[in-house]
Amino acid sequence: MDSIPANRRFWNRISSDYQHGHDPQIGAAPRLWGMYSIPDTHLHALGDVAGKRVLELGCGAGQWSRALAAEGATVVGLDVSEAQLAAAARAMGAAGYPLVQGAAEQLPFAAGSFDLVFCDFGGLSWAPPHLAVPQAARVLRRGGRLVFNVASPWFEACYDEAASLVTPTLQRDYFGLNTIAEGDGATSYQLTYGDWVRVLRGAGLVIDDLIEPRPDPGTPNGYNETDPLDWAHRWPVRPVGFWKVGTV
Ligand SMILES: C[S@@+](CC[C@H](N)C(=O)[O-])C[C@H]1O[C@@H](n2cnc3c(N)ncnc32)[C@H](O)[C@@H]1O
Repeated sequence: MDSIPANRRFWNRISSDYQHGHDPQIGAAPRLWGMYSIPDTHLHALGDVAGKRVLELGCGAGQWSRALAAEGATVVGLDVSEAQLAAAARAMGAAGYPLVQGAAEQLPFAAGSFDLVFCDFGGLSWAPPHLAVPQAARVLRRGGRLVFNVASPWFEACYDEAASLVTPTLQRDYFGLNTIAEGDGATSYQLTYGDWVRVLRGAGLVIDDLIEPRPDPGTPNGYNETDPLDWAHRWPVRPVGFWKVGTV
C-alpha cells in the first residue's frame, strides 16, 4: 500500500496546528525523546554525534536535527511534507543543515552515505517498516547505527478511539495491528515485537538494545490523555522502543 501521498497531505494540513501545539514542548531543549520529552541524557540512545553524517527520517520542524547540527554533526533532515520542512527551515537557526523532501520508504541517497540514521516517531512510524528499514540499512555505512522510537503496541492496543483515551483495557488485538488509521486516509504503522526483530535482522542489522523509557508519574505528556495519569509509568507508551541497531 502506498501511503506517501495521503501522509504528505495529512502532515501538510496539520503542520501549523501541530507545531503550535507541540513545538513549545518538544523544542524546549535539545535531544528530547517522544511525547514525554525524556532527555537523551537519561537514555543514552544517540551518543556523541560530532563529526558524524546523520540522517533524520521524518524530521518535522527539525527540533532534533537543529540540535545535532549545533553539536557539530553533518545533518540531513528528510521529511515527506513541504509544510513540515518549511517549519524546519524557519526554525533552523545558526547551525544550518540541508532539508530534503522525500519518503522513508524511498530514500534518495547513495548506499553508505550516513554514520547514523534516526527518528523520533518519524519515518519508521509513518512508512511500512518492511520498506523503510531496508532503506535505512542501505544508506548506513558498515558499522553505522539506526536509532529510532515508535509507539508501543501496548499503547495502540489500549487506545480507546471513542474516548480518545489510553486506558488499561485492551481495545484491539495485538496481532494484526499493522496499520493505524490516522484520519483523512493517513496511516501509521505498527509491528509485533517479533516482526520488528525479523524486519531488522532481515535488513542485515544487529539489535544492540531496546530501551523502554519509564517516565516518572506526573511527567507532562502533551499528546494523549491517559487514565490512569501514570499509565506510562506502568506500561510502555510512546516512545517505547529505541532499537539501537548496528550494521554488520
Ligand atoms: C510526529 S512527526 C515526527 C517529527 C518530530 N520528531 C516530532 O515529534 O514532531 C512525524 C513526521 O513524519 C513525517 N512523515 C510522514 N510520513 C513520512 C514518510 N513516509 N517518510 C518520511 N517522513 C514522513 C511527517 O511529515 C512528520 O513531519
